Amino acid sequence: MELPSDVKKKAEKIALQWKQEKLKAVSFLLTERYKNDSGKGKRLAVTKEEAAVYSVVRMPATYAAISDALKYTLKAFPELSEIDSAIDIGSGTGAAAIAICSYFENTREVLCIERERNMRELGEELTKVYSSVKWISGDITGTDLSQSADLIMESYMLNELSEENRNRVIDKLWDKTEKVLLLIEPGTMAGFEVLKDARRRLISRGAYIAAPCPHMGECRLSGDDWCHFTARVQRSKLHKYLKGGDVPYEDEKFSYMAFVREKPCIKGARILRHPITEKGMIKLSLCTSDENREAVITKKQGELFKAARKASCGDAIDLKS
Ligand SMILES: C[S@@+](CC[C@H](N)C(=O)[O-])C[C@H]1O[C@@H](n2cnc3c(N)ncnc32)[C@H](O)[C@@H]1O
Repeated sequence: MELPSDVKKKAEKIALQWKQEKLKAVSFLLTERYKNDSGKGKRLAVTKEEAAVYSVVRMPATYAAISDALKYTLKAFPELSEIDSAIDIGSGTGAAAIAICSYFENTREVLCIERERNMRELGEELTKVYSSVKWISGDITGTDLSQSADLIMESYMLNELSEENRNRVIDKLWDKTEKVLLLIEPGTMAGFEVLKDARRRLISRGAYIAAPCPHMGECRLSGDDWCHFTARVQRSKLHKYLKGGDVPYEDEKFSYMAFVREKPCIKGARILRHPITEKGMIKLSLCTSDENREAVITKKQGELFKAARKASCGDAIDLKS
């Protein structure tokens, strides 16, 4: 799903108070910082210019990843549609708050907690039209959450923390989760390792996993095979200029895990790669309740074939259909 166009336009308008060459240099610097300094607890996007560049070059992609993760979680755990309150930690410029408001129109309050002043102020500006969104300044490693919420989430934040802080933060977030804790990280090997560690920790504390895993056992993916999905995002002219390249879209790779307090009704398997369609058959790479395997679905399988034809990577598929 695309970031609403009015938010995109506003972010670009704010960014264009600086010269495009300056923005491009900042964009390059931010990319280097995210590549080299994540996982060390360092401050990465700090100045006004950095926040503005983040909102133009990263926010449309993180928004698309968050929207997809919410969509998959909602399918696996329909009770999520009833949420009254949400908290987003490390809110940046407000991608998750806008995604939550777009999905759940009746949510009474979406509380954004962000440490960096310039990210927070830009986020406040970009989410001004969403009346349920409130912002507070806070560093989640130093403070406890003072309230609980039906949905607690973070996107692309855990991987910025040191390992020691990460575990403490995961515990804090789970302790205040009423229904769903949604964690979204870059779809890289390192991003997925962060989630796998969180998964072990949370399951040992009594959490159930609602998505994407169709089982509660140890994750069977390791080494250079990790669970990630892709959200396609259209690129604006300014985005192309700041990040280089001419392709009109970018594919944002992300990993996510949704933990719930009540045992979810897990049906079927998760499709881990893009389905391969050949004449009269579809090949699927699946994570099922008891193994990871390839499946070939043929036309003879009627309803299952129809379901497989409509399915994409990331979807759940009921093999009994
Ligand atoms: C990569 S950005 C992601 C922003 C947003 N969640 C998104 O998906 O677009 C990570 C954000 O987490 C914030 N952050 C990092 N550590 C934090 C902490 N300890 N407490 C609060 N916010 C933090 C950063 O300032 C930054 O805005």
